[in-house]
Amino acid sequence: MIKQSSTPENVAIEPRNRQHEFSGALARDWFDNHAFKTAWFNAMSITFPLGEKFFIDSVRNFSPQIEDPKLQDEIKAFCGQEGFHRREHERYNQSLCEQRGYDLGYLEGRIEKNIARSKKFLSRMEQLAITAALEHITAIMAESALGEDSPMAVGVDADMKTLWTWHAAEEMEHKSVAFDVFRAVGGTEKMRKQALRRATVFLMIDVLIGTVHMLRRDKKFWDVRLWAQGWKFLFFKGGILRRVWHNYKAYFRDGFHPWQLDTRDLLDDWKASQVDALA
Ligand SMILES: [Fe+2]
Ligand SMILES: [Fe+2]
Repeated sequence: MIKQSSTPENVAIEPRNRQHEFSGALARDWFDNHAFKTAWFNAMSITFPLGEKFFIDSVRNFSPQIEDPKLQDEIKAFCGQEGFHRREHERYNQSLCEQRGYDLGYLEGRIEKNIARSKKFLSRMEQLAITAALEHITAIMAESALGEDSPMAVGVDADMKTLWTWHAAEEMEHKSVAFDVFRAVGGTEKMRKQALRRATVFLMIDVLIGTVHMLRRDKKFWDVRLWAQGWKFLFFKGGILRRVWHNYKAYFRDGFHPWQLDTRDLLDDWKASQVDALA
């Protein structure tokens, strides 16, 4: 039997249909009581519903060609997880924009146009490569969020932390699904690496534009000190982007595979924390 999945045997991709409570937190600067940090994460959330729909479509395009039943099951579980993430982040984004006066139509409209353009001008294989690349970015951010010195460890509203770590853990579980499909259907190393460069540029622009929009509406756009603190939060020592840089670059290595970054311990820790929370 042909083996196309490389998710470790002891990692189960489990869609958890959870409804989160976050409307109270979204009215406030829930991340460290800081307008920039909060806007950055809220802007990431805005990209998820449409982005994750694109991921599901990109992978489903190729599922009839997958012969390994294990990878077939993982594709179904992947779509299940991303489906629940979409639903929760749709609720999140609606509540956020209603409460804080952000223009969801404007923010999503831009992303919608980009995705429509990608579907028109990129081949299905390239779309899958972009998906695998964005899943890499998500997975390394997830690793950072669930790690011991997580930027979410202190100063983050408890309900928001529950939502973001749930999403992070599931991203980690399914981190190689799109990648394995890409490899199984003959995606090349060159296309894989090029896709990460493209995906990074688009994602950064989208999140930055979202952040700018939110800070404008918050009337904090001209606060130079806030931006300096924000830049530090992203890029300086310990910054949320700086700390994932090493793993980000690993994707450009020949023969890279997501599970070369073995994050099973972090998943086990997160699962244990869920049992504790329910106890
Ligand atoms: Fe997701
Ligand atoms: Fe994902």
